[in-house]
Amino acid sequence: MCGIIGYIGSRNAVDVLIEGLKRLEYRGYDSAGIAIIDNETGDVVRIRSVGKIKTLSEKLIGMNLSGNIGIGHTRWATHGPPTEENAHPHTSGPFTVVHNGIVENYAELKEWLINQGYSFESETDTEVLVKLAEYYSKNELLDERQAIMKALKDVKGSYAAVFLAKSDSRKLYGCKHESPLVAGISDDGVYVASDVPALLPFTRKIMYLEDGDFIELTPDGVQVFDLNGNAVQRRFEVVDMNPVAAEKGGFRHFMQKEIYEQPRALSDTIKPYLSMENYKVFLPNAAYLSDVISAITKIFFIACGTSFHAAMVGKYVFESFLNIPVEVDLASEFRYRVPVIDDKSLVIAISQSGETADTKSALSFAKSFGAHTCSIVNVVGSSLTRLSDAVVYTHAGPEIGVASTKAFVTQLAALILLGLFSYGILKDDKEDVYSYLAESLLQLPSVCEEVLRRSDSLRNWVHEISVAKSCLYLGRNILYPIALEGALKLKEISYIHAEGYAAGEMKHGPIALIDESMPVICLVQRGILAEKMRSNIEEVVARGGNVFVLADEAIKDSGFSESLAKKVIWLPSVHEFLSPIVFAIPLQLLAYYVAVERGTDVDQPRNLAKSVTVE
Ligand code: M6R
Repeated sequence: MCGIIGYIGSRNAVDVLIEGLKRLEYRGYDSAGIAIIDNETGDVVRIRSVGKIKTLSEKLIGMNLSGNIGIGHTRWATHGPPTEENAHPHTSGPFTVVHNGIVENYAELKEWLINQGYSFESETDTEVLVKLAEYYSKNELLDERQAIMKALKDVKGSYAAVFLAKSDSRKLYGCKHESPLVAGISDDGVYVASDVPALLPFTRKIMYLEDGDFIELTPDGVQVFDLNGNAVQRRFEVVDMNPVAAEKGGFRHFMQKEIYEQPRALSDTIKPYLSMENYKVFLPNAAYLSDVISAITKIFFIACGTSFHAAMVGKYVFESFLNIPVEVDLASEFRYRVPVIDDKSLVIAISQSGETADTKSALSFAKSFGAHTCSIVNVVGSSLTRLSDAVVYTHAGPEIGVASTKAFVTQLAALILLGLFSYGILKDDKEDVYSYLAESLLQLPSVCEEVLRRSDSLRNWVHEISVAKSCLYLGRNILYPIALEGALKLKEISYIHAEGYAAGEMKHGPIALIDESMPVICLVQRGILAEKMRSNIEEVVARGGNVFVLADEAIKDSGFSESLAKKVIWLPSVHEFLSPIVFAIPLQLLAYYVAVERGTDVDQPRNLAKSVTVE
């Protein structure tokens, strides 16, 4: 993980780096640092601190640093704990570097460098990169560019890195292999960063770099090479992203804003793809997808974390709506089993960031079997979109809170759209089931407004849950993944232990956990399992569990026992496939309120990062 940025131009690099790093903080925030070439002395000045960018900015106050060329880093520790010594940038002789990724053979390279007389000041894998560059420049008399390129050729693993060289050349050097990197240009100079939002305050003219690219930045422009020094053609394009979308807009936290934005995010995702007139679905890459869907015998969904829960919902939808066999895999596990997969398989990766290393690797693994690939991604131009044969973008807008909310519901909407699209290809009779689902999907944004209004009553649950040591979330069928998602939300932002269970599994073990101190959050949908779910709840109540219920208002008349009825929040009744969205929203809000009550860092919970770019 980690976020990196570099700047060269006419502005004070310190301001540019700090502003950019604030926007990259979602990638890691346990320590940070910058290095600039000081305008007065011509020396490299390196300032690092443990903690967030705010701490680094405070450290910079009063230093009055000024320089027009510099690099910056925000870290999520992989090798070595978050200390100032391990914080980037790392330096050796004339070279200073910031790095995102993992140097897998660093131990071997480190040993070799130690044998050449080098000593190390940090425990990071990154330091070998900068020492190797120095070694080649000093001992093989290579120029800056060649020395860095040679160092990179020694490295196994993933990297996006930016090098600052203290010399008369006044250049920055960047490189990318399996970690994201973009360059930007404006009248004030040239920029390089881990992602586009970091550069939006300065420019919208962006160059997406590819694996193997090496860039040389001067105040006037960017030249791209491969690692052998051959020129490579890349172009700048103007991106259509709104910097204001990445602001809090009056909300206390990004997560809160993102929860309330969900009706808009859903509408922006559904409307461009689904005609209100004839319910026809228009997807990009439609011809390719149509050929593939007519020919495949199996679908695999791969994803991590919250996106994996969306994938689980996808299995229910695709199997029951389309009658296609579906497997769902955690991306981090997929590569390490022996899946039965071939060119009659479609592998659909789901990812908000499009940069999750496990998901990217799993997709590449699937491709090696000749499988067709499609990804459902939020971040435009991200790595996963470049790896996939087809892409369906969710239009959630930038999601800054580490806990995924609007990205999740738009992933679910995109899955339904893909389901409708596939139905149109595979089934002859389109009329009833198809139109009912399409119509329901179009109405979903306004239903979600109503869900948000009703969710205010959740505040009455907050205190009891916020003092609990552990919570259970129960659901069945298509709401089982939502029970898992509710539990994940609570754990990651409130640090309360929580587990999601398929309610029918309780009697096979977990019911032993139930006592008066255990809040149990139950999700009840109408339909064949409503009765069974109600029995599962009564079993928990009978053992003293403290039950809270979210239920479909369609079953209101059949009622709950009187004691339970006080703790029921009724949710709008929707198409079965859309109920995961309707139930997810109050669970996000519940986790949010509990986290606020407990005073945790809602947007940047401990030990996490928004984008997990290491395996
Ligand atoms: O960007 P991705 O959707 O690939 O990220 C996957 C997970 O890291 C992510 O969903 C994570 O679980 C969230 N923090 C959950 O809120």
